[in-house]
Amino acid sequence: MSYKQTNLWNVDNWKGEQPLPPEVKEAGLCIKNGETVAFPTETVYGLGANALSDAAVDKIYQAKGRPGDNPLIVHIGKKEQWNDLCSSIPSMAETLAEAFWPGPLTLVVPRSSTVSDKVTAGLSTVGVRMPDHIVARALINTAGVPVAAPSANRSGRPSPTKAEHVHYDLNGRIAGILQGGEAGYGLESTVVDCTGGQAVILRPGGVTLEQITEVLGDDLVFQKEHSEKREAPKAPGMKYRHYAPSSPLVLMEGDMHGRLIEEKKQGSKVGVMAVEENKPAYQHEADVFISLGSRHDLREIASRLYDSLRTADQSQVDMIFCETFPETEIGAAIMNRLRKAASSS
Ligand code: TXA
Ligand code: MG
Repeated sequence: MSYKQTNLWNVDNWKGEQPLPPEVKEAGLCIKNGETVAFPTETVYGLGANALSDAAVDKIYQAKGRPGDNPLIVHIGKKEQWNDLCSSIPSMAETLAEAFWPGPLTLVVPRSSTVSDKVTAGLSTVGVRMPDHIVARALINTAGVPVAAPSANRSGRPSPTKAEHVHYDLNGRIAGILQGGEAGYGLESTVVDCTGGQAVILRPGGVTLEQITEVLGDDLVFQKEHSEKREAPKAPGMKYRHYAPSSPLVLMEGDMHGRLIEEKKQGSKVGVMAVEENKPAYQHEADVFISLGSRHDLREIASRLYDSLRTADQSQVDMIFCETFPETEIGAAIMNRLRKAASSS
């Protein structure tokens, strides 16, 4: 599907006051009419379409080049909206929605027949989330339908945290982009399966395991360490190659000096992604140094990660070395994405 022109609507300065900007109305109408529109959320930019229409949802898969077996998250503007999307709402889902919505949490619940089969990719469940972003909710409410939206990147690329990332990946392939500044968290929502006896984190994200456990209690949350299964279940999308820059990304625990010197001796051009505090240590050996922010602020590192991977991708080095981070709190999501970016499959 190609478009002569992808509309650009800028609402960066709008803080939610009435009346609704005409740009949001136009974008909402576009979704209502079965088109695809990218929009900001508090996690990353999403690519939205009417979740009740097969034809509209199909356009998302085409624009992204997304495999058809990877289901989409349905975004709602008001909590009541999920009653029509699910056949039942498990009590733990209700508790989590109460605690974390609007916010970066997707709840997987039994689906109803209203939702397009293309959204659920043949599963009997649907992932639902109410975003904590004024533009996102205004768009959904204006469209008047639940909005299916994956991250607004070409499949396999890092998720977009800025409107310009969306433009780079999808210009000419979608109807429009609602520009609303930088996404806050910078990593996607946490996806939690609520259909069994315990809540299972299928993808770590903005809401942490620690926060979920605090709300539900230890017994109601699946924890890998306490399970006989070695692998925790994953969201279908996690099996795909993702986020990877074109040059190999290598994760380095601890000091990377020795390795950098070795690569330089062999004539390689190397990039380094590390915390600002390590800049003096590595900037001389590195051909390109990309600062991820301060070691003391993992939330900042999360918010810069995808932009840094895109910068690394364009830096034309032979390989990129990246520091690792502690896997607690938001560090779990950071390391999950870095491992995907570093893996070759
Ligand atoms: O923060 C986010 O979640 C962003 C913004 C736009 O909301 N969206 C996003 O969507 O990251 P996407 O499509 O890039 O990732 C959705 C993930 C995939 O790994 C998919 O497999 C999983 O959620 N997922 C969706 N529906 C599911 C379901 N019914 N059961 C299990 N996993 C599901
Ligand atoms: Mg994605």
